[in-house]
Amino acid sequence: MDMDSIIEALGGAAQVQTLLGVGPSAVSNYRARGQFPEYARIRIWQALKARGITVDPETLSVEPSGQPKPIASNHGNVSPVVNPAVTAIPEPPRILLIISGGIAAYKSLELIRRIKDKGWHIRCLMTASAEQFITPLSVSALSGETTYTELFSLTDEAEMGHIRLAREADAIVIAPATANIMAKMAYGFADDLASTVLLATDAPILIAPAMNPFMWAHPATQANQRQLKIRGISFVGPDSGDMACGEDGAGRLAETPQIINAISHILPGSGRLNGKTALVTSGPTHEPIDRVRYIANRSSGKQGHAIAAALARQGAKVTLISGPVNMPPPPGVHVVAVETAQDMLTASLAAMPADIAVCAAAVGDFAIANSGANSGANNGANSGSGAGKIKKSDTGDAPQLILQQNPDILATIADHKMRPKLVIGFAAETDDVVNYAIAKRLRKKADWILANDVGQDDQPVFGSDFNMVHLVTENGVEPWPEMSKHDLADQLVSRIVKEISA
Ligand code: C5P
Repeated sequence: MDMDSIIEALGGAAQVQTLLGVGPSAVSNYRARGQFPEYARIRIWQALKARGITVDPETLSVEPSGQPKPIASNHGNVSPVVNPAVTAIPEPPRILLIISGGIAAYKSLELIRRIKDKGWHIRCLMTASAEQFITPLSVSALSGETTYTELFSLTDEAEMGHIRLAREADAIVIAPATANIMAKMAYGFADDLASTVLLATDAPILIAPAMNPFMWAHPATQANQRQLKIRGISFVGPDSGDMACGEDGAGRLAETPQIINAISHILPGSGRLNGKTALVTSGPTHEPIDRVRYIANRSSGKQGHAIAAALARQGAKVTLISGPVNMPPPPGVHVVAVETAQDMLTASLAAMPADIAVCAAAVGDFAIANSGANSGANNGANSGSGAGKIKKSDTGDAPQLILQQNPDILATIADHKMRPKLVIGFAAETDDVVNYAIAKRLRKKADWILANDVGQDDQPVFGSDFNMVHLVTENGVEPWPEMSKHDLADQLVSRIVKEISA
């Protein structure tokens, strides 16, 4: 079958994205290459099979008859395929549970039982230190599957190569997760089976940490957690309370029902914003003065990127329009890289219609009208950013830059005939933050404004991993406590879910 027929048979590109847990750009790349990546073929084969279409799992070509094969009915007779939607049998999600070493490892046995109660398929993998607490035998007895433990085990590799183990999972759960496995993930180590699988997977990952409160609170563990969240990895817990080590504080493994609930939220297709589209602007803009210089705002893109990632985790189809940043593209998000405010506006309008718009970019208010002006050798006013570097003059006269106002992207989107249902902006102010934000919400016709104070020397926002905002809506002003930009993104997206589904 050719690519287009496969995508059509599976219900369209959006369904294929959900099935493979990838973003729209990945599917476009597969189309351009004319083939799916190797790991995806097994999922596509299974999904087609569930729709009564039998193809060769290696090549995805239709089996010899050239026709989709009919499905055997319960009575062993053969019934023709009439409506693929009716015949489709959903496969249970496949969970790979990684158990790392820690006294809480025994709680993973209960988790396995509850995962099975949900009707999900489970396979387990244990680290060497987890084997000090519970045995692979008890894990296998409960999961009903082989438990994998070693990277260089001939038996394990022959039965299930580590790459297949990584790829044949719809979600990977690490419970309990030690400080060690989090550190290995943050730095990309691959020195045992668990860390290798975690590096080789593209499935969503949920981490349920459990460790001594001091280990959890240590700046190294906290930095690793933030790093992992940047990559779109979800966390559940840890809870606070009495610890097995006799200390008290945050570090207890989350309760089993909490973990089950968190797993159900990371499974592909489970998001509460499924079928919704979002556009997010992030980062600064660069307004060229000449070919080498520009005016920019202080913005790392951390907050906007975290919001895009959080929307995508909830199943929204996200276009992230980003100015120049040093941030990895969030998983499952279509990124459009731009430089100037004008480009950002053009890309934002191209991403409409959308259900949700979040304008988190620090857009330059002014562009240089005469970029390249007075540029010495090529002294040409209005010669554009294509003009060479402006030269210093021997007389000491500085060139005159003429500023022109940039379009306001947030206000344009909010006043557009295709206005998204929910339009959200930010207001970074140095004084009278809330009052300016209230006025800005009305002036720009935004639904919500997140106001943050960027004027505090002791609590910088730009480039920091933390943020503290007031949410300004038509109903009033809500102060939110200081939290990481990722937690803020999750909290904002929970509010968006409520608003959009109201
Ligand atoms: O007017 P001010 O820059 O303070 O407004 C901040 C909000 O407006 C942010 O949400 C920002 O992304 C958005 N904005 C915009 N286009 C501009 C200026 C700001 O979208 N040209």
